[in-house]
Amino acid sequence: MLSTPPLSLYIHLPWCVAKCPYCDFNSHALKDELPEERYIDALLADLEVDLPRVWGRPVVSVFLGGGTPSLFSAAAIDRLLAGVRARVPLAPGAEVTMEANPGTVEHDRFEAYRAAGVNRISLGIQTFDDAQLKKLGRIHSADEAASAIEAVKAAGFERFNLDLMRALPGQTIDEAVADVERALSFGPRHLSHYQLTLEPNTVFAKHPPPLPPEDTVIDMQDACAERLTAAGLRDYEVSAWAQPGQESIHNLNYWRFGDYLGIGAGAHGKITLPAEEHIVRTRRKSHPRPYLSAAEDGSFIAEEKPIAEAELAFEYFLNRLRLDETIPLAEFSSRTGLSLDSIAGPLDRARELGLIATDGIRAGDRGGEPPPEATLRRTERGQRFLNDLQALFL
Ligand SMILES: C[S@@+](CC[C@H](N)C(=O)[O-])C[C@H]1O[C@@H](n2cnc3c(N)ncnc32)[C@H](O)[C@@H]1O
Ligand code: SF4
Repeated sequence: MLSTPPLSLYIHLPWCVAKCPYCDFNSHALKDELPEERYIDALLADLEVDLPRVWGRPVVSVFLGGGTPSLFSAAAIDRLLAGVRARVPLAPGAEVTMEANPGTVEHDRFEAYRAAGVNRISLGIQTFDDAQLKKLGRIHSADEAASAIEAVKAAGFERFNLDLMRALPGQTIDEAVADVERALSFGPRHLSHYQLTLEPNTVFAKHPPPLPPEDTVIDMQDACAERLTAAGLRDYEVSAWAQPGQESIHNLNYWRFGDYLGIGAGAHGKITLPAEEHIVRTRRKSHPRPYLSAAEDGSFIAEEKPIAEAELAFEYFLNRLRLDETIPLAEFSSRTGLSLDSIAGPLDRARELGLIATDGIRAGDRGGEPPPEATLRRTERGQRFLNDLQALFL
């Protein structure tokens, strides 16, 4: 039976100093002055639109993403988070993450962000190679990245994430490993390690840089993984590494098919409505200008629709199987409202192919709710052929 999962809140802040040539996020180079006050007002009005659907539910994590949230002053972030707390109950110990670009923060700002209620910083480092940073159109040097990390630590943030990208133009395996080692020297408890991808409608898609050959990319990934593992981090998700217990609560909630409110330009949300027996997906107006204008009449939502029953199992497993952990099958039922019966075929097939292992499912258990102890786990083979495994649930 459908029941409400943990609830997170995503807040999108869509401006950057300049647009990086590889980036397809909803981010816009700031041309005029930042409309800080107006945007915070719009965000708080936007949050109120969703409130009747999540009444009383505690929020387990807040993520200020972008764009470049660190373009906003600490006073603005303080007003935003105070406004959030006045409208939704934050769970005790809720994780409040803010993305920051090392090129946008004078150093005493991190302390003020912390005082505003931010308790986790995610820094977009990408690489410590100045020549690469230039090719990537980044607005900071390697030294500035390093001092931003030191400033985050000095401000008392125990939890911070570093974003690194690998398979950069012309990058060698040694260079990628050197980036990982330099990042590890700062003692991060969480590190996101993305392979650079050429996204449609970006400058890099139009003028592709010379990327390393596929074999090199695979060896590079293995060599980096070895260093990350040796440093005590575990890849709990496809691109996310963390010390045990330091995984991002916010990202875990996405991948466990939890709920999230998504406010701000272009933000996506997912809300379970057990009484209506469906899960709705929401999307806000994308461009900052119409989004800001929507504050006049509260028309922030561009699209809203329930997830079709035929897509629910796929959507659940698409997210869920990214995580390297045991999945209670009772969770599948409570988060999708579907019975075990609806996935009996794909489960059998995935097991036959050695992509998953199940435990606690007996013959005849198929009809309704799975037994409480039944679990599923992707195998190593399932991890290697993740796309094929996910596609079985289509
Ligand atoms: C929204 S950005 C992070 C914060 C901030 N805007 C910054 O760039 O410093 C999230 C992260 O996604 C990664 N990313 C963005 N575009 C990517 C691409 N085309 N391929 C791989 N990773 C990408 C980068 O590591 C980036 O830091
Ligand atoms: S700073 Fe971050 S969000 Fe902005 S364009 Fe660059 S990668 Fe994208």
